[in-house]
Amino acid sequence: MISNRANGLFGIYVHWPFCLHKCPYCDFNSHVPNSRSIGAAFDEREFVESYINELRHFAKIKPNEIVNSIFFGGGTPSLMSPQAVGAILDEIALLWSIDENVEITLEANPTSVEVARFKGYKAAGVNRLSIGVQSLRQEPLKALGRNHSVSEAKSAVAIAQSIFERSSFDLIYARPDQSLDEWRVELNEALDMAGGHISLYQLTIEQGTRFFDLHRDKKIIMPDADLSADFYQLTAQLCNEAGYPAYEISNHAMVGEESIHNLLYWRYGEYVGIGPGAHGRLIIDNIRHAFANEKLPQEWHKKVYANGHGLVTDDKLTWEEEGDELLLMGLRLSEGIDPKRFEMLSGRSLSAHQIKDLQGYGFVEQLNNGFLRVTESGFNVLDAVVADLAA
Ligand SMILES: C[S@@+](CC[C@H](N)C(=O)[O-])C[C@H]1O[C@@H](n2cnc3c(N)ncnc32)[C@H](O)[C@@H]1O
Ligand code: SF4
Repeated sequence: MISNRANGLFGIYVHWPFCLHKCPYCDFNSHVPNSRSIGAAFDEREFVESYINELRHFAKIKPNEIVNSIFFGGGTPSLMSPQAVGAILDEIALLWSIDENVEITLEANPTSVEVARFKGYKAAGVNRLSIGVQSLRQEPLKALGRNHSVSEAKSAVAIAQSIFERSSFDLIYARPDQSLDEWRVELNEALDMAGGHISLYQLTIEQGTRFFDLHRDKKIIMPDADLSADFYQLTAQLCNEAGYPAYEISNHAMVGEESIHNLLYWRYGEYVGIGPGAHGRLIIDNIRHAFANEKLPQEWHKKVYANGHGLVTDDKLTWEEEGDELLLMGLRLSEGIDPKRFEMLSGRSLSAHQIKDLQGYGFVEQLNNGFLRVTESGFNVLDAVVADLAA
């Protein structure tokens, strides 16, 4: 049921927090079984029961919804057995109606063991695969701490494309020591391989990672702001030429191949988040709630066993906070935001004076449909643009 604060899109995010090893750049909520953070090996069947219990908890809060998208993210969901994926999907179908065009995505790493499960995921109901390729060059893959080769990654992409109607893969660029010319050749190769969608992320140095320490100790040198902007511009140019315009700052697709799940987040729809560390946004009695789960897998599992959910946060957002989130999410999209929706959610208008100033710098533009969007040069300073408009 659509309340007046929602936009009709409803999704489910399933976070699978386990990985075979921790990549040195990654600050996602991912844990290696038998390592300190989760203690012992875990029992997949018991964990799946907890996912199912959390789904039941949220279905009581938000019954009668039509699910447009389901996304298995991680961590490494391709370490799940197809049976586990199938059990979660079957439960979702029991609890809610499923849209006939539902998108069901699973994030996969491209090792041969994981590729062997692709057909099982398809049989379980997954209809879109997103593969973590990260680089098409051997040296950078090694530096990124990946445990797959370039040829494994290429073959995973080809196999995914032969099994699934829709697929995507991720690359990380603006890496230490990477030149623009090297990236031009690598990206063109990637665009030749792509099957309609590609995600391209500039490497970011995140606190708490191995790369953070190496960067602090000057053992890795990142591109400066000017070179980063050149990387961004070159990426936009090559993707446009290949028919893969950006629909979001890091996501490029052929027209019609945009990910429903990505659009659901950035158009500020509603979603349930289940699993350790998952976040959700749901409108209850016309108030948007921000949910977050316990991050540590075993602690989350215990909480779900005791309470039926693993929530550690349930904040009711103020109108002001909703307006800020709409800007933060929506201005990442090339379609931009509808100022009228901002007004409806936040109870105030965007400052005409602020917009005029940003237009003067060439950072935002107003479209014929009334939407406000960030320009290509504005994307280089997106945080500042959002902060200006939110002020
Ligand atoms: C949830 S993560 C990883 C999914 C999967 N386990 C994998 O490693 O391929 C999703 C994507 O975020 C990107 N990513 C993660 N950390 C990053 C960082 N520090 N800088 C840029 N991109 C990053 C990677 O491209 C990754 O594929
Ligand atoms: S990048 Fe992927 S595989 Fe590596 S630690 Fe993060 S979630 Fe796990």
